[in-house]
Amino acid sequence: MKIDVIVGLQWGDEGKGKIVDYLAPSYDMVARFQGGPNAGHTIKIEDDQYVLHIMPSGIFHDKMLNLIGSGVVIDPVILMKEITQLEAININVREKLLISKKAHLILPTHKLIDAASEFSKGKKKIGSTLKGIGPTYMDKTGRNGLRVGDIFLDNFKEKYQILKEKHLRFLKQFNIVPEFDIENEEKSFFEKVNMLKRYKILNTEYFINDFLNSGKRVLAEGAQGTMLDINHGTYPFVTSSNTITAGVSVGLGVAPSRIDKVIGIVKAYTTRVGSGPFPTELNDETGEKLRQKGHEFGATTGRKRRCGWIDIPQLRYSIMINGVTDIALTKLDVLNNFDPVKIGVSYRLEDNTETNQLPYDLVNIKVEPIYEELQGWNQDISNIRTLSGLPENAFSYIERLKNDLKTPISFISVGPERSALIINE
Ligand code: GDP
Ligand code: IMO
Ligand code: MG
Repeated sequence: MKIDVIVGLQWGDEGKGKIVDYLAPSYDMVARFQGGPNAGHTIKIEDDQYVLHIMPSGIFHDKMLNLIGSGVVIDPVILMKEITQLEAININVREKLLISKKAHLILPTHKLIDAASEFSKGKKKIGSTLKGIGPTYMDKTGRNGLRVGDIFLDNFKEKYQILKEKHLRFLKQFNIVPEFDIENEEKSFFEKVNMLKRYKILNTEYFINDFLNSGKRVLAEGAQGTMLDINHGTYPFVTSSNTITAGVSVGLGVAPSRIDKVIGIVKAYTTRVGSGPFPTELNDETGEKLRQKGHEFGATTGRKRRCGWIDIPQLRYSIMINGVTDIALTKLDVLNNFDPVKIGVSYRLEDNTETNQLPYDLVNIKVEPIYEELQGWNQDISNIRTLSGLPENAFSYIERLKNDLKTPISFISVGPERSALIINE
């Protein structure tokens, strides 16, 4: 059996959680392969809304296993908080959750370094979620990190102290170090680490490969988006992990040849939270209208998301990097009352030439998007469940995207609920 993958094709918050939750019943396991509690995946089940930061989005389904792979970084305090909330609604997390021994731990001082680094950068800050993601991956690649499996070692506290002291020395170089109640943070960290020992912490690489060999189906759930990938995103305004399909193999310990379908999630417009280039960003009332209609405020930090039109060169790049086989187009209903609806089709560079490729130095140069206008549909589509039931102009918008992106659009989401989905078979 092979693995199917869900990845975000923009700058995150494309609606990955909703699509994973919808598709989960066709699988036996949902697995997170990268990132950490910087993610915020929102799932709406009837009148209740849940935001998951670290837990895979299959956790609400019966009999479904949920795996946190070795490519993920875990804050035990946030994970235990999430587990406690899920257990309070009678979800059997002890049965359904598997955690890789190789996943790295976010220490309290990783969060402190994140904050000190961001505050010291001033205007040049990344706009990090300040969850300690970057510093934890730095320790991982620097070969200094602590892993989940280490919590069972007799000398875990000693290892922790060594790393913490290293962090305290490192912090001296920053001109701004925020106030931090290290004693309390540390107390809570060790409490939650102890609680975590009651859950299934395994060599998940063996588990997942045996699971696949026995004919079970796995859905890999990406966090963030392609443009936030550490290698292929808008560096340095990115996160610190591989958010793309290739990250699945590394972050779960499965061979690349195991990967089958890659479902790329695309919002019907574009958003970005945090700093960095965003060619089709709208700093006007249309951008504000997108933010209001789409409720574009961060699920993790509550920050305003920057908004703009859909960007074809950016999406073609993401489709190429990820090997996308199917697109799930989300939040089409947000465009209900926009007329015209615009799509960015290429970029004009500073020397007046035109390109449909993402420039390497997008961070340093100004690109002006060239738009085409399509007629809006001026009609509520949130109750429509078939492609043929869509207004003609909404249908044309989808057809136009399909042709420009040269990829089938297999799902069209028209509302936050599980059921608000059109399947295009
Ligand atoms: P993720 O990080 O990619 O999982 O996305 P988020 O959960 O951070 O942000 C997507 C937001 O849009 C959430 O509040 C979802 O409930 C909501 N959402 C998802 N799909 C749709 C849709 O088709 N229409 C509308 N109106 N909202 C949606
Ligand atoms: P989901 O999974 C949107 C952004 C941050 C910042 C940059 C680096 O919900 O789509 P980090 O905390 O990793 O140091 O932040 O990446 N970012 C996200 N933006 N959605 C996310 O996750 C994000 N996770 C990180 O805003 O610009
Ligand atoms: Mg999100």
